[in-house]
Amino acid sequence: MEDKKKVIFSGIQPSGNLTIGNYFGALKNWVKLQDKYDCYFCVVDLHAITVRQEPKDLRRRTLEVLAIYLAAGIDPEKNTIFIQSHVPTHSEAAWLLNCFTYVGELERMTQYKSKSKKYGAEGGTVSAGLLNYPVLMAADILLYNTDLVPVGKDQTQHIEITRDIAERFNNAYSPTFTLPEGYIPEDGAKIMDLQDPTKKMSKSSNNPNSYILIMDNPEVIRKKINRCVTDSLGKVRYADDQPGIKNLMNILSAITGMSHETIESKYENKGYAEFKNDTAEAIIKELTPIQNKVNELLGDKKYLEDIYKKGAEKAYYVSNKILRKMQKKIGFIPVSR
Ligand code: AMP
Ligand code: TRP
Repeated sequence: MEDKKKVIFSGIQPSGNLTIGNYFGALKNWVKLQDKYDCYFCVVDLHAITVRQEPKDLRRRTLEVLAIYLAAGIDPEKNTIFIQSHVPTHSEAAWLLNCFTYVGELERMTQYKSKSKKYGAEGGTVSAGLLNYPVLMAADILLYNTDLVPVGKDQTQHIEITRDIAERFNNAYSPTFTLPEGYIPEDGAKIMDLQDPTKKMSKSSNNPNSYILIMDNPEVIRKKINRCVTDSLGKVRYADDQPGIKNLMNILSAITGMSHETIESKYENKGYAEFKNDTAEAIIKELTPIQNKVNELLGDKKYLEDIYKKGAEKAYYVSNKILRKMQKKIGFIPVSR
């Protein structure tokens, strides 16, 4: 008999336009996983509303994120691709799991601490949703008996709390959930901010020059790379004291497959201009077909609808079985409908 494939679950929030950080750090790796694993890729719109979203932007971005998943090469025949709010089991399981989570452990999450500080400082209020964010993420993961969760390093704390909540539930009743593990890419997959290369490139940055969007046009990409912060050493070297150059080298090698040594020797005795120029052109070459495909997909709403409907059906079927188990163990009276 064929071994059962391990389950992978991951998601991206439609809370901003996706950057090449999301592309190289997440999407490009997901594509490589789709043959070996049983993958669920979700557009996590319920997570996005933990901070206020403009309804029309949320609608547009949710479909755009879905189209980007597909355009990046995630095959809807091989994977379950869906929109989180279409599958009500996630919200239901999140409520149940909330009752197995301590306020203190949520308050200790670094993402909560930094986001609540940021919104507080901007004069905004902090929603209970922002605090409970990791519990919804735990529901996402646990509802599919997920083995591996491919995410960036910043999400490791959320995977740890997911395991803690799962263990607590398993111990309170009987084994119910698989304990998931993070599947964290090596350092090179982390794309840094173009204006401050000691920080991660983020779609929520206030300065558009600090990131490149997957949907940025060639002119904008050239300008942003041209203006990106480097150093005055003038040598293309893969070194920690040249974080800006190191970041561009990571990007160039992620696209071309060239090793850092090859890049170093190719640009030996050449200034940064040529290196920056080639990096910009490589990014443009990588993104152009994806952008064309995204635009084509966004013009075919019926096709997108077919995909997210089918994805939601499959996701509901699988997750509902686990939700029913949870409800039964807790002591709720089952009802057949
Ligand atoms: P987020 O943009 O925070 O919703 O992240 C979605 C996914 O993209 C997560 O798996 C992140 O780890 C990944 N990601 C986001 N920004 C970067 C970046 N600058 N470099 C690498 N991966 C990233
Ligand atoms: N919190 C994740 C992020 O910001 C997104 C996310 C939500 C997620 N639910 C998930 C990632 C479940 C993996 C698995 O990157």
